[in-house]
Order: sequence, then structure tokens, then C-alpha cells
Amino acid sequence: MKEYAHVFLGTAFTSQSPKEVQILKDHLFFVNADGMIEKIIAPEDTEYPNIVRFYQGKENFHQLEDHQYFLPGFVDLHVHAPQWAQAGTALDIPLNDWLNTYTFPIESKFSDIDFAQKVYQDVVSTLLANGTTTVLYFATVHKEASILLAQICADKGQRGLVGKVVMDNPDLTPEYYRDENTQTALADTEEFILAVKAIGKNAKQGVYPVVTPRFIPSCSDEALQGLGDLAAKHNTHIQSHCSESDWEHGYVQERYKKNDAFALHDFGLLSDKSVMAHCNFLSDEDAELFAETGTAIAHCPISNAYFANSVIPIAHFHSKGVEIGLGTDISGGFSPSLYDNVKQSVISSRMLEDGVNTKLPAEQRGVPGSRITVNEAFYLATAGGGKSLSLPVGRLTENYSWDAQIIDTTNLPLYDSNEDLQDVFQKIIYLVRPENILEVWVQGEKVHSRD
Ligand code: GUN
Ligand code: FE
Repeated sequence: MKEYAHVFLGTAFTSQSPKEVQILKDHLFFVNADGMIEKIIAPEDTEYPNIVRFYQGKENFHQLEDHQYFLPGFVDLHVHAPQWAQAGTALDIPLNDWLNTYTFPIESKFSDIDFAQKVYQDVVSTLLANGTTTVLYFATVHKEASILLAQICADKGQRGLVGKVVMDNPDLTPEYYRDENTQTALADTEEFILAVKAIGKNAKQGVYPVVTPRFIPSCSDEALQGLGDLAAKHNTHIQSHCSESDWEHGYVQERYKKNDAFALHDFGLLSDKSVMAHCNFLSDEDAELFAETGTAIAHCPISNAYFANSVIPIAHFHSKGVEIGLGTDISGGFSPSLYDNVKQSVISSRMLEDGVNTKLPAEQRGVPGSRITVNEAFYLATAGGGKSLSLPVGRLTENYSWDAQIIDTTNLPLYDSNEDLQDVFQKIIYLVRPENILEVWVQGEKVHSRD
């Protein structure tokens, strides 16, 4: 019998399509030395009993107890790692004031590498403990601290995609926190890309550099074009913020007489490896451009409630074929948990569908067809995120990475040992806290243990 690095036995929940969750009851998962799921065997397979007998008792055989389940590791498409230092605070003013009053000052402190070390160690560990195995990070403008974040991801076993932020527009960035000039912004970005590629070579799970113009208002045209060129030259991922709020969307309209999506496209910033945060104000034409170019939306439902002046019509954009995943947007979103964002994405979509202003008659109050189900929200946190990044992650299926959470349901309200597994799944999604996440695995390696 072929020897695998690890064999897991238990019941798993994984997305089969955006609307369907597949339940793999008591399946065997064979993980090879590269950390990929090479084979999955169902209990109905004639070989199943022999295989179980062969592996039972071996050190690399992991059999779940009755009240334990596998979920795919979550994919967080939008985290500002430095903003972990202000998570849960400073949510009282609109986006542009928030950036200038709270956020640029805190991010400027990451010129201090010791401070960066403390915050970045903590945010990577915290996200892992919340079941998040792949993260698309914004760091700060500082090259050294941004490289350090990539190194910390590599060391802790998290699949980090990390961007050194570019902000060179003196009109909309403060003197104490911006790239020195356009040339240094681009030169630092290229050095950063090469340094992170070197780190990634020694990280089994993959660590990747990301070209990261903060958003159009922070950047000059030269920087945006230069970053598009660098992304093409080094075949990197790209991230930014896009059509997030009335103010930001309006600013870009005024500057280019077009929406963010088309402006970003003009600079070579929309590709299959692009992920744009928020996107609340995309027009149908913008959404079609996203679908054509393979650009994904990082949906950040908690943050949107504070800064986006709207609820994004996520079901509509999904129906237009746009790739979508979920983001916490720490610290515009206060929570490090994608569980919290799964719930909020369902809640926000229900409020959009029904509407909120009771002064209006019911039939005029909302936007019909807007609701998403918990299955769809789970897809966004897992398979949708993996697809957005063009990486084989977010599903527990063959030829995908073994990125998994082991969930312990002991203290959840499950009183019937034969409870329908769809209901067990929903209770997990709505009620799991970090203390229910027993173990977290990335690329076949255990990277977090509750105990
Ligand atoms: N737009 C530009 N920068 C930011 C940021 O840090 N957070 C959010 N939510 N929007 C932004
Ligand atoms: Fe953001």
C-alpha cells in the first residue's frame, strides 16, 4: 500500500458549487508529501476497511471523534496587517477622515521594525487561530517591514500574499506617511517583489508578493502605470481598493471621467490575479469588465457597514460571473474572524433584499433577489477565495492543498446524535468560536493547535 504523509478520517463539509455544500461523511483523505490531497475514498469503497485497518494506530493517521468535523481553511482576501494595532477602535468617522485621523498615523509607525514584528507576529497567529489559512495582506509603505510580514507568514506556515503599499500622491497623502517619490515607490516595490519571491521558494505553502497601489486617490498616474508594468513583468498578484464609498468613487469619476474599474484597467491593473476590495459601486459594465479580465471582488461586509455607504449587491455580481471571496478588512472591519464575516454577508444581503426604511411601503423598500444563503457565504470564504487567487485552495477535494480546520462541536447545541448534517454545518458556521477550532493545517502541516 502506498505510504502517504498523512491520512485523515472523518466527516467534511466543502463547497461543490456556489450554492451547494457537499458532505463527505466518514471519508478518507490521503495527503502526499507536497501537502496536496491526492485521493479521497468513501466508506462504500470495497478497499475502505482494509485501508483503515492498515493505517489504524500509525502516527500519521488522524481519525476524528464523533463530534469533530473538517472544514476547508478560510481564505481572507483583504487584511491590513498593520491595522490590527487599532482593531475594534476608531470606527466613528467617514473613510477619508478615518484614514487621515487614525489609520495613516498608525501605519506610519511601521518604520519601526520592532513594533512591526510584534503586531505582525500577533495578527498572523490570530488569523490562523480563527481558521484562516490563506491571507491577502496589505502591509505599509515600508519595504523592510513588508518583507518581514512575508517572512513571518513563511515561518508560521500561513499562505501569505503580501503587498508593500504604494502611496505617492502628495495631494492626498500626508508628508509623514507616503513614498518618497514615484521612482522610489516603484524601485522599492520591485526589490520587495524579488525579496518575497526568494522567501516563497523556501515556504512549502507558498508566500507571494502582491503589487499594491493603496487606491487611486493615493497614487499618481505614473505610479499606477509603473505598478501595472511591474505586475506584468514579474507575473504577480495585484490588489487595491475599488469603488468603495461615495467619496472615493466620486473622486475617481472626477479625476478620470470614468469608474475605478476602467481606470484601473487602463493602467494594466486588472488581471486574473487581481483582487479588488469592496467594489460596492460597480456598474454592470464594470462588473462585466471584472468578469472578462478574471478580476475578483474581496467582499468585506462588516467594514462596508461602516465605510461603504451602501450594501453591495453581491448576488447580482455573482450572477454576472464575477469571482468573489470574503475579506475581514481589518481594521475597517473590527473582527479577525471570517466566521463573523460569513454571518454578516448573509445578514447584509437580507437587509438589502427587504430594505430598511419603514416609511416606505414594503414593495418599494428593498432590492428583490439580493439575499444570499449561508451556503453561498461559506463558498465565498473558501472556494470563492481560492478561485479569486487562482490557487488550488478552499476545497477539500482531490488536487487541492490540505488546508483544513478541525472543528470540535462539544459545546454547540447539538442534542441529537443523528442530527441532520446540513443542520450541523449551519450550527458550525453560525456558532463556532476560536475555542471550537481544535487544529488548523496548511499544505499538509499542522500550524495551529488549540491546546
Ligand atoms: N481605502 C484606502 N485605504 C483603505 C483602508 O485602509 N481601508 C479601507 N476600508 N478602505 C481604504
Ligand atoms: Fe481595506
